[in-house]
Amino acid sequence: MSTIIYAHRGASKYAPENTMPAFELAYKHGADGIETDVQLTKDNIPVLIHDEQLNRTTNGKGFVKDFTYDELKQLDAGSWKSYHYKDTTIPTLDELLAWNQDKQLKLNIELKNNIIFYQGLENIVCQKLAKYNMTKQTVISSFNHDSITKIFDGKVEIDYALLTGRHNKALVPYSKKIKAKGIHISYRLLSNRLVTLANDNQLYVAVYTVNSSIAIKRAIRLGCHALFTDVPKLAIDIKKRRFA
Ligand code: G3P
Ligand code: MG
Repeated sequence: MSTIIYAHRGASKYAPENTMPAFELAYKHGADGIETDVQLTKDNIPVLIHDEQLNRTTNGKGFVKDFTYDELKQLDAGSWKSYHYKDTTIPTLDELLAWNQDKQLKLNIELKNNIIFYQGLENIVCQKLAKYNMTKQTVISSFNHDSITKIFDGKVEIDYALLTGRHNKALVPYSKKIKAKGIHISYRLLSNRLVTLANDNQLYVAVYTVNSSIAIKRAIRLGCHALFTDVPKLAIDIKKRRFA
């Protein structure tokens, strides 16, 4: 099995996270997939942004949920990273899915609803994935495990995984119970024991956010199904060397 390399928020070390240039760069660097974070605007448009507030990654202020998409698209989501990206905007989920039509990268859509409650986010995302015929290559994840249960209960057939940064004994039995495909854990929690326990329960393990050569090599060696990295080129090069 070869570990899937997801570009975490795109190739986010070199381009502004969760923007089209970061996704383009990830594609250019040979990433197997894109990990991105989705939230809803005031008018229920799914947009790709990590923080609940605009302050860190745009020239706006306040909460994503309090602005319409037309308002959000006026913001500069690139200059904070580099002047070179000054005309970059916050992308919608539609933009990513349309862009991926001819590339067919794998996708990990993370529902960012663990701090803000976005009514109907699960259904909106699933419908979009169905519309673009991208359910097969996508896994949905969330720190909000209630949200994952809603995917389990939903009408669209799509893989989902539990996301966690904390040690939690119930994680493996709970994931199995709700028929998750895997668990996405912080690299800090990665151990041979956990991978074995998960695999024995027909669950895969994926790790975030793995940026050093040592950590990438370890994640691959321990049999992680996938890893999330801000530097997909490094991870792809390591993987190629290992499997050459
Ligand atoms: O989905 C893996 C990882 O993205 C989870 O943490 O905070 O980077 O979204 P975060
Ligand atoms: Mg994320």
